[in-house]
Order: sequence, then C-alpha cells, then structure tokens
Amino acid sequence: MNTPPLRSREWFDTPELYGWTRRAAMLGMGMETSNFEGRPIVGICNSWSELTHCNAHLRSLAEAVKQGVWQAGGVPLEFPVMSLGEFNMRPTTMLFRNLMSMEVEESILANPLDGVVLLGGCDKTTPALLMGAASADVPAILVTGGPQLSAHWRGETLGSCTDCRRYHVELRAGNITENDWLELQGGMIRSPGHCMTIGTASTMATLGEALGMSPPGNGAIPAADSRRSQLATTAGRLIMNCIEQDLRPSKVMTLPAFENAIRTLHALGGSTNAIVHLIAIAGRLGLELPLSWFDELSRSTPLLLNLKPSGEFLMEDFCYAGGGPALLKELSPLLHCDCPTVTGKTLGENIAAARNDNPQVIYPFDSPLAPDGGLVALTGSLAPGGAIIKRSAASAELMHHRGRAVVFEDHQDLLARIDDPDLDVVAEDILVMKNAGPLGGPGMPEWGLLPIPKKILAQGVRDMLRISDARISGTAFGTVVVHITPETAAGGPLAAVQTGDQIELDVSQRRLDLLVEPQVIADRLREAPAAPQVPSRGYRRLYAEHVLQADRGCDFDFLVK
Ligand code: FES
Repeated sequence: MNTPPLRSREWFDTPELYGWTRRAAMLGMGMETSNFEGRPIVGICNSWSELTHCNAHLRSLAEAVKQGVWQAGGVPLEFPVMSLGEFNMRPTTMLFRNLMSMEVEESILANPLDGVVLLGGCDKTTPALLMGAASADVPAILVTGGPQLSAHWRGETLGSCTDCRRYHVELRAGNITENDWLELQGGMIRSPGHCMTIGTASTMATLGEALGMSPPGNGAIPAADSRRSQLATTAGRLIMNCIEQDLRPSKVMTLPAFENAIRTLHALGGSTNAIVHLIAIAGRLGLELPLSWFDELSRSTPLLLNLKPSGEFLMEDFCYAGGGPALLKELSPLLHCDCPTVTGKTLGENIAAARNDNPQVIYPFDSPLAPDGGLVALTGSLAPGGAIIKRSAASAELMHHRGRAVVFEDHQDLLARIDDPDLDVVAEDILVMKNAGPLGGPGMPEWGLLPIPKKILAQGVRDMLRISDARISGTAFGTVVVHITPETAAGGPLAAVQTGDQIELDVSQRRLDLLVEPQVIADRLREAPAAPQVPSRGYRRLYAEHVLQADRGCDFDFLVK
C-alpha cells in the first residue's frame, strides 16, 4: 500500500518563517523536535464541557486516547470544540448541531492534523462530530463517553430520563409527593456519562459501531467502566492505522454502511432523532437516505433490543449481554458484513467472536421481540413529506386511531392551556401542537411528548395520540407522531388543522391523514399566519435562511455535498 503524504507536513515543512514559527510553537509546548518531524499528528477533537454533564469526563478520556497515539508513534494534540448540553442549552441543542459540525470541520481542515479522534457523548454532540468529520474527510474515529450507570431508587432500577418523565407524570397526577420527587432527583444520575436508556446518545454511539466509525463495544461500555478508557487507548492506536491506510470517513460511511446503521437503528428500537442525524451525516458525503428507505428496512428488520424506553433493561445490561458486537452478530444475516471499519477489519471480522450472553436483553434473530423495526415512517395528507412514530414505545391500541383534534398553536399555548380544567378534551382526542419544527421552534425542540392534561391523568389515562412537527427525546415513550413535514412554519398542512377536525393514524398502512376536504385545507393555508420573521443577524439568521426540513436531516442547504 502507498501511504499518502502526511497532511501535517504542509504546515511544518513550509520553508522560511511560517514553518519555523510552527515548529517553534511545538517546542514551546515542551515537545522535542522529533515529535513533529515525520510523525503523524492526531487531533483529539473534544466536546468536553462542564455545561454538558454527559461529556464532563471527556478530558480524562482524551488522556487515554493520547496513550494509544503515543504508543503507535503518533503525536496527539487535543483541541476543544463547542459542546451541546441537552439539559442546559436554550432553546434546544438541535438549533446548534450544524454550528458545532461546522466548527468541527473547520477546526480539522485549518490545522496540521493527519487524523482525528472525535470525543462526544450527549445527544447532538455525536452527530455533529460525525457530520463535521464527514465534510472534512480526514481519517477519523468516533469514541463516545459511554452511558451512565443504572439508577436505583427505592428498590427500583431506573433509566434517565425515561423514568424522570414517568415519575413526573405521577407527580402531576398526585401519586407521588414533592419530597419523593426531590429524593429521586439525587439518585437519577449516578456517574459520568450520557443517558443510559437507548435514547439518542446511546443510539448514536451504537450506530457508530454499525457505521464502522467506532471501535467494537463503543456503544454500551459504561462511562465508569475501566474498559471505556481501554477502548479510548485502542482508538488512539487505531487512528494511526487509519492514517497509514488513508481510511477516510467517505471510505467507511458508504451507502451499505448506512444501510447497516438503519437496520441497527430498527433492531435497537432506537431514537427517532437518529433518523434526522443519519440523513444529515449521509448528506455530507453526497448520499441520500429517503424516509421510504427507513420504512422499507423497518419492515424487514426485527426488533432485538429490550431496553427502555421501549423495553425493560438499561445500557449497563446491554453491555453485560455483549453490547453492540453481540447485537450486530445477531443481526448479521441482514447486514453488509464486508463493509470496512476503522479497525482496519470488516464489520464481519469485528463481530466474529461476539457472543450474546443474555437473550432477555438482546433477543435472538430467530425469536425477536417483534418481527419488524421500532420506528415507522408515515405519510399522508397531514404529512406529505413524512412523519415518524416510534411504534415500539407506543400503545398498541392507538396504532389505528381516528379522533378529534385538540389544537395548540405553539408551545406557549400548550403550556398555558393544557391543564386548564375547562379545556374541552377527552381521552380519545388527539393532541396537536403546531410551530415546533426546524423553523418554527426554532430548532425543532424536543417538545413532541405533549403532556397529558391533568384532568385526563386523573381518569387513570397515561397515553393519548399526540402529533406535532417537533422532535421527542430518545428517552421518551408514548404514542407520539413527530417530525411532521413540511412543518407549520413552512406552510405544511399542519398549519391548517383546527380543533374539532378529524385525524386518522393507521400505522399498518403508514398513513397520517387530516380528514378535511383538500379545498378547505388549501383555503385555510392561504389564511394561515405568516412564517416567523428571519432574525436580523448572526447565527440565527444563517440558520433561518438555510435550514432544511426534517426529511433532509435539518442540515443547512450549503453544507450538503
Ligand atoms: Fe446528555 Fe441525555 S442529557 S444524553
């Protein structure tokens, strides 16, 4: 194999002043001359931040990566990129995913880096890293921070934040006290790491393995487990091999690799957000993933993983059952096992020795939890561009449901009226929220899990059909249709829905329909309020002028290859 010339040489071998000053700067950091004379420079792109609790341990993980880079003869240089903390950022991290991806891309391209190890964890940090690395197309490996340890409270094993939401419903229903709620708060997040249900962070970390961008085991090893550091050190060695083989993201994340990732997403019963993120990552490489393909693969991919929010267990259990490699091995009859990966081996070689040690957690391929996948793409007169429902986390009796719409014009309207005792609503109604999409939110916040009105909760009802152009957290459960496209603010039919209209959801037929005459819908849309004003300056103006709809990954039009 012909090893390509090192990118970093363009910086350090430059004659005269510039090369001299760059070498002087390396000496100034205490490096010896030998460190930058012919050795590959490996960037460690770190989304560490104390504002992102899920990523707050990534500085120590970076040290583990450095060990591996040094061992393999490279020179590691750690650098920060913005971090997107799900709990702290307003109005939503999704507003800033593309910004972070741009920072990742430009930080890689502007610096003397021959390869990069990407450190992420919290929901949006992982896709932003992969999007930026795909655009930069310099050899890269994804290492995530790992899930938190399982939570325990009063003898019950709990998951963040599936059970935060469940107990919040019970608090609203008056079944637990404020003191109970406070006590629970102290025990929910027991360790470093990201949410330990199969939410967006765990889903994307495991999809890193399926895509071939992460070392085997990346998804499930807990953050607090010593094997997480070992994996990071391994990644530090592996990136050197990727540099030598010129194994770039575009050579790893091919269309067959994305097919593997989509099938894995369905087998996981993973997060709805992963659909948007996979479309965006693929778009950076010039690959299109239509929603119809997600649906087609869903029909022929069994649901294998029994994790909250759809199932019973947590990421720690997934790890002990064999983690990503065991799940991928179960799924291997449907996978392209010849895809290359960052280990230098094929996906099939990576999982050859994997074993499923707990078929209650990872169901066998020939006796799955469900014969088809957890996520379903819908279309119909209410969602001509598509919508998503997580069937595995929904109520079976609502999979075909026709009911009366109770409409909230936006999130503020929802918060103001949902618990109004005079709200005209019954359990069979369909709660509809508008103006929460990529433009309307803005940023498509995770508001899609509309709260059940208190007066309905008091009747013992815990689920209703809820519909919006928002997203939902990967840790959420319930019968919730999200990502309605086009969104309200883009003039989609959702803008035309009025309280009292009939809506029909038929998951078996993949349909979501507004049962109103097309001419009436058209008339109402002509009279609908104008789209929100484009902000006058800054990043939010850039966002409003260029963000694409959910079926195109909510990326910026000018970033798609
Ligand atoms: Fe970071 Fe859940 S808050 S992954």
